Amino acid sequence: YGTDHFTKGGVCEGGRYAGVITAKSYGRSGVADTAAGYSADRRRQSKGKRRQSTDRLKERQSCAMKVLIVGSGGREHAIAASVAKSKKVDKIYCAPGNAGIGQIAECVPIGAMEFDKITAFAKEKAIDLTIVGMDDPLVGGLIDELESAGLRAFGPRKNAAVLEGSKAFSKDLMKKYHIPTAAYETFDDPKKALAYLETAVMPVVLKADGLALGKGVLICNTLEEAKDGVKTIMEDKKFGAAGSRMVIEEFMTGREVSVLSFVDGKTIRIMTSAQDHKRAGDGDTGLNTGGMGTFSPSPFYTEEVDAFCRKYIYQATVDAMASEERPFQGIIFFGLMLTDKGPRVLEYNARFGDPEAQVVLPRMKNDIIDVIEACIDGTLDQITLQFEENAAVCVVLASEGYPVSYEKGFPIGGLEKFEGKDGYYCFHAGTKEDGQQIVTNGGRVLGVTATGRDLHEARENAYQAAEWVTFENKYMRHDIGKAIDEV
Ligand code: AMP
Ligand code: GLY
Repeated sequence: YGTDHFTKGGVCEGGRYAGVITAKSYGRSGVADTAAGYSADRRRQSKGKRRQSTDRLKERQSCAMKVLIVGSGGREHAIAASVAKSKKVDKIYCAPGNAGIGQIAECVPIGAMEFDKITAFAKEKAIDLTIVGMDDPLVGGLIDELESAGLRAFGPRKNAAVLEGSKAFSKDLMKKYHIPTAAYETFDDPKKALAYLETAVMPVVLKADGLALGKGVLICNTLEEAKDGVKTIMEDKKFGAAGSRMVIEEFMTGREVSVLSFVDGKTIRIMTSAQDHKRAGDGDTGLNTGGMGTFSPSPFYTEEVDAFCRKYIYQATVDAMASEERPFQGIIFFGLMLTDKGPRVLEYNARFGDPEAQVVLPRMKNDIIDVIEACIDGTLDQITLQFEENAAVCVVLASEGYPVSYEKGFPIGGLEKFEGKDGYYCFHAGTKEDGQQIVTNGGRVLGVTATGRDLHEARENAYQAAEWVTFENKYMRHDIGKAIDEV
C-alpha cells in the first residue's frame, strides 16, 4: 500500500486565494490584506472573540494544501476520503490513522492526545489545515493549542467543545435558552441524587457528566436500579472522573435521529439526516456501543420535523453558544428524539458521528474543504450544502465480544473487492498493517457502506458487501436499517 507518498493530481480551481500570497500575514495577530480577508477580519474583531488564525492559507496556492486529520476511526477514514476528493488538497497526513486511512494519507504515529507532538508536527510540515475528528482532543483543547501556534484548525475550541464535554453544561444551556430537551436535575453529591430519586418517576436516565465513550448513560426502570446506577457513576466511578457530577433526566420515548451540521460561530448549515444503531445486538438488545451501523437519510426526519428543529433547536443552539461567549465553530451533532410532543435534544456532540459520518459524507456533493474553510472564516452563509438524492447504509463489522472483550490481530480478507466499485466503501476503524497484511485491531473493525437509489437498495448492497470481507471473529448486526420497513 502506498502509505508514504499520497499526492493527488488535479487542477486548482483558482480564484479564491489566487494572488493573495503575502509574507507573514497569519497568526492570531495576523493582518489580512484581501478584501474578503479584511471584512472577515473586521467581523471577527468586532465580535472580539472570533478566531484570528485564519489567513495562513492565503500564503499558499489553494491547490496545494497539506491537511492533517487527527483520529483513527471509521469517521476519520470517511473524513480523509472526502478530503482526498478535494481539488485543493495535495497531501494528507493522519495522526495516528489506521491501515485504511494509510491508503490515502500518510499516517504518523502520534496519538490524538499528544498535543505537543501534533502541534510540532503541523509546524514542521507546514500543515495548512488540521481537522480534529475525535471528541477527546476537542474537549481537551487541541484546537486552542494549534491556534496559539499560529496554525489553522477545524473544530470547536475548548470553551465550545464543552457542549459535548459536559452534559450538565449542555442541559443548563438548553434550559436557559428554551431549547426543547428532557427535564433534568444536576447533582454533585450522591446523597442528594439518591434523595431525589425517591420521588422521581421511573424509568429515569442517569448520565455521567463528562466524556465516557458513549457509555456513561444508564436507563433505569426501577428505583433499585436507579440507586445502583448512582453508586456506579458517582461512588464506584465506573466512568472515571466523568462521574464526579451527574445528570438525572426524564425518560423519553420515540425514534432517534442524528443530524450533523457545519457551524461557523453564527451560521449553521444542516447536513442530511441519519440514524444510528447503538446497541450491540439485533433487535436493539445488548450493551450500548459506539454504533453498529447507520442509514441516511432517515425517513422519519420529515419536513415537519426539520421545520421544528430549524425553528427551535439548530440556530437557537448556535446563538446560545455565541451569547455565552463560546462561539462554536466546527461540527455540531444533534442527537434528537422524535417524541409525541415533538423533537427533543437527547445530546449534543461536538464532532461528526461515528458511524454517521460514514453514510453522510459519501452523499455530500460539496468540496469538504470549501465548507470547512467557510466555517473557519465565518463565511458559511455563502455556502449551500448539497447531497446526492440517494441513500446510504453502513454496516459495522466488529470483533465478536465488542464492546466488552474481544481478540484482535486476525488477518482481514476481501478488502480488494471494494477497489474500483462505485458506491461501495470500506471504512477502516480498528485495523493495522502487519507485514504484508491488514489485521483487526479493535472492537469496531470496519464500516461497510453502500449507496443505492433508495434505502432498501442501499441496505441490500451494504449487506452484500459485508459478505466480501472475512476475518476470524467477524460480528455484525443483521438488522441495520430495519426501521426502513416501518415507514
Ligand atoms: P446519549 O449519550 O446522551 O445520546 O445517550 C445514549 C443513548 O441513551 C441515547 O442514544 C438514547 O438511546 C438513550 N437516552 C439518552 N437520554 C435519554 C432519555 N432522556 N430518554 C430515553 N433515552 C435516552
Ligand atoms: N454514533 C454516535 C456517536 O458518534 O456518538
